[in-house]
Amino acid sequence: MSSLLVDDIGELVTNDGGGEGGPLGIRRDAALLVEEGRVAWIGPARDAPPADRRLDAGGAAVLPGFVDSHAHLVFAGDRAAEFAARMAGQPYTGGGIRTTVGATRAATDDELRATVRRLRGEALRQGTTTMEIKSGYGLTVADEARSLAIAAEVSDETTFLGAHVVPAEYADRPDDYVGLVCGPMLAAAAPHARWIDVFCERGAFDVDHARAILACGQAVGLGVRLHANQLGPGPGVQLGVELGAASVDHCTHLTDADVDALASTRVDGGHTTTVATLLPGAEFSTRSPYPDARRLLDAGVTVALATDCNPGSSYTSSMPFCVALAVREMRMTPAEAVWAATAGGARALRRDDVGVIRPGARADLMVLDAPSHLHLAYRPGVPLIRQVLRNGVPQ
Ligand code: NIG
Ligand code: FE
Repeated sequence: MSSLLVDDIGELVTNDGGGEGGPLGIRRDAALLVEEGRVAWIGPARDAPPADRRLDAGGAAVLPGFVDSHAHLVFAGDRAAEFAARMAGQPYTGGGIRTTVGATRAATDDELRATVRRLRGEALRQGTTTMEIKSGYGLTVADEARSLAIAAEVSDETTFLGAHVVPAEYADRPDDYVGLVCGPMLAAAAPHARWIDVFCERGAFDVDHARAILACGQAVGLGVRLHANQLGPGPGVQLGVELGAASVDHCTHLTDADVDALASTRVDGGHTTTVATLLPGAEFSTRSPYPDARRLLDAGVTVALATDCNPGSSYTSSMPFCVALAVREMRMTPAEAVWAATAGGARALRRDDVGVIRPGARADLMVLDAPSHLHLAYRPGVPLIRQVLRNGVPQ
């Protein structure tokens, strides 16, 4: 296989510490060599080895590709009218999930596939090289299984979210629905999934149902993550810590005990084994108060940023948009937000081969149309991703 030299990098964000910029590990005037889809060498541009091909970064910034660790791409229809009603003052309750469930059940496989591919392509053009994709708008055995099979065509990071809400036909017998999720639905979903997730929230699943469902998933080898503390305070975050979840997502309404529980998962003064994944697109689109990233960071909690891309609460596939929101609205520095959107997302997926640029890592990276990572937050809404490489292949 041929080698590729990415040359004349003005600012290389490695996320491996060392260099400048703390955890961003910034190298100046750098080059990197890609071989067989992996980073083979990093060093000063003047020491660059020969290669079969050369990509001239022209003095721009090069970063690891974004790792979007939370997205719901398998659905049909949209909820633009619901968004408009919210912007006119209606609250978000999650009730619209059932509207999307109806549309998703009525869609063909090819219609769902087309939406997943369109959104995955949209994200890729904005620098996302790894993207987690959840089911959760099927809520029957067959519809959850096909949602995951279609998601698995474009991502290895697939998540079974059969416990998104209790579907209308089970409204008066939620225990039976939990039985279905833990039994035949999990059996049909597990071959296509790496993770299991539950929407643990008032109006969705209570803590006992959530614990039972996540434990069933764990028993068949799925990793645990959950939607927690989005719409109000609740037991979700502490349940995630109790179960050793890779990530608790949303974290908008936290008590001091929640923050302490997350901080208690810190290993050897380093990162927390349970990551707090913040989803500012959801607060933007539901016009809700943003989570306080500063409070989590100051307590030593590892923070990730993700899009939550879905047709209800956050119809954006843009990680640069989430970075800009996190900096402007959540008291994160630009460096913290860029780290959270790359290395943080990788930790939320328990991956050490992405979100970082070091020898041996996957050559998933982006060249900006800008000299520094700072521009991602400094120039919001501007298409700054000039070139994306995935597995070393220009996209
Ligand atoms: O993460 N909170 C639950 N699920 C999604 C919203 C889904 C929807 O409104 O369709 C979320 O925000
Ligand atoms: Fe979500």
